[in-house]
Amino acid sequence: MRALIVGGSGGIGRSLVDRLSKRDDITEVMGTWYRHPPEPLKKVRWFPLDATSGENVEQLAAETGDLDLLINCIGLLHREDKGPEKTIVHADAEFFLDNIRVNTLPTLLLAKHFMKLLKKSERPVFAAVSARVGSIEENRLGGWYSYRASKAALNMVLKTLAVEWRVKVPNGCVAALHPGTSDTRLSKPFQRNVPPEKLFSTDRTAGQLLSVIDKLTPEKTGRFWSWDGTELPW
Ligand SMILES: NC(=O)c1ccc[n+]([C@@H]2O[C@H](COP(=O)([O-])OP(=O)(O)OC[C@H]3O[C@@H](n4cnc5c(N)ncnc54)[C@H](OP(=O)(O)O)[C@@H]3O)[C@@H](O)[C@H]2O)c1
Repeated sequence: MRALIVGGSGGIGRSLVDRLSKRDDITEVMGTWYRHPPEPLKKVRWFPLDATSGENVEQLAAETGDLDLLINCIGLLHREDKGPEKTIVHADAEFFLDNIRVNTLPTLLLAKHFMKLLKKSERPVFAAVSARVGSIEENRLGGWYSYRASKAALNMVLKTLAVEWRVKVPNGCVAALHPGTSDTRLSKPFQRNVPPEKLFSTDRTAGQLLSVIDKLTPEKTGRFWSWDGTELPW
């Protein structure tokens, strides 16, 4: 099996790369980085990538070759000057568009350019790390407008792709994944009120997500999975 972890330089992405590179059933792991170049690792090929650029994603697809598993782990929750909105009064056009650009657009571009490379696999899986707060049905607390909207849009991209794959890649599975709160740069400013047992190490998160992925079948395509294998409502 050959796997590509997009956002392999991030907290969750890097732990997925580490775990996959130690598995006997995986022959090669590829990972991408954007601002933080990772050190070389056995069995791992690294690629620089701006996943918001269609040209960059197309170029990456030309270099990786056929794949069995692609997981997109890219994400944005806060920038140096801005965090998720507590109220609509904090909404900001640029921050909203940044969220869509980083949390939604890359999966659309990856789906476009990697379908032909995944199609040849016996059991291809295309997954993206989403977030529970992107569930429209589960939204009871409000706030975080831009992040929530970008993850809800990501979920719609994945659901729509699953519909297209039913005909074009019938042996494949498309999945949205919720990782649980994990100790990374992205969650750092929001960890204060998280009880220690609910803040996962990235290694634990990677293990849990891979257990979910290992159980995916074509019949389970187009669904939203939590880290513990339960299904989340859209
Ligand atoms: N951590 C949590 O508690 C939590 C909870 C729910 C959902 N999630 C989701 O889980 C995923 C992984 O998050 P994380 O916590 O591991 O975050 P992280 O450590 O901040 O990693 C983010 C990754 O995104 C990459 N990236 C950002 N912009 C990019 C671009 N334009 N092109 C290519 N790569 C880009 C970063 O690359 P560089 O570092 O090289 O710049 C990094 O690899 C995200 O989708 C996040 O929304 C996380």
